[in-house]
Amino acid sequence: MGRKKDKTKSKSDKKQKKAKGTMAERADKFACYLASVQSPEHEIEFFEDVYKEEFGRKPLTLQEDFCGTFSVCCEWVKSSKKRTAVGVDLCPETLQWGRDNVLTKLKDSQKVRVSLQEQDVRKKNDTRCDILAAQNFSFWIFKTRAEVVEYFKCALANMNDESLMIMDMMGGGECYDLGHIDKRRIKKGKNGFKYWWEQAHYNPVNHDCSFFIHFVFDDGSRLNRAFEYHWRFWTIPEVREMLEEAGFSKSYVYWEIEDKKGRDTGEWERNEEAMPHPSWLAYIVAVK
Ligand SMILES: C[S@@+](CC[C@H](N)C(=O)[O-])C[C@H]1O[C@@H](n2cnc3c(N)ncnc32)[C@H](O)[C@@H]1O
Repeated sequence: MGRKKDKTKSKSDKKQKKAKGTMAERADKFACYLASVQSPEHEIEFFEDVYKEEFGRKPLTLQEDFCGTFSVCCEWVKSSKKRTAVGVDLCPETLQWGRDNVLTKLKDSQKVRVSLQEQDVRKKNDTRCDILAAQNFSFWIFKTRAEVVEYFKCALANMNDESLMIMDMMGGGECYDLGHIDKRRIKKGKNGFKYWWEQAHYNPVNHDCSFFIHFVFDDGSRLNRAFEYHWRFWTIPEVREMLEEAGFSKSYVYWEIEDKKGRDTGEWERNEEAMPHPSWLAYIVAVK
């Protein structure tokens, strides 16, 4: 009885599989991105720690520039009843995905504390924030000093008197290694997939660079170039100089702490000196 039932089940499973297409065809690229790239709760913990270190209290207002599906905004308002968040992005499709899939998971009392601005980040807002976050290297889309400084000046105008701008940076030899792909398994089991981050192009003369994100599924299908970025590869000292030029009073670099075996700990500390690493991540925290 049991075996027969199993057989019937597997026949209909096969039919269903055929009808539904490959895993890549069924996948949602934004959901894959969220599962692979973002960990909003860790970001918020970091924002809180660095703000407390500088000002001795908790930050309440967040502006998430280049917010995409604004999961950091949503996590922010969940973390305290007193917190509000503004997400800024110019892509209507991405913002809508966030409204349909991330915002809907919040309680009504939380939803009303998130607002969205579909606009260029180089536009001033009516609101002022304690933390202005620009994550995942997004400002690298600005390829000249003039554009970055203009953006930093605008960010500064959107910030409260006691406030921080926080952005992440990457670097290391591997980042210049054309064709290098960082491969990570994100999910196991029937919805299993891998995240591939490809270093596709780098021009040492002007630091133009391109990165692709591919998702590779366990049935062999792929979402090739699900996301692609064409940026300028900025360095930490260049960014700190531009922050100063834009009017920020000071900036810090937070470097990841390694354990005795050289493994990342997920903890960060202010540092003016670090050991070279083939692929590093760091934060720049700028004080208004
Ligand atoms: C690399 S994604 C980052 C998404 C999200 N912040 C994260 O950490 O994963 C870059 C986002 O910036 C947006 N974007 C690009 N240029 C922009 C601009 N000038 N103003 C506002 N948003 C912009 C894109 O639409 C995209 O959603």
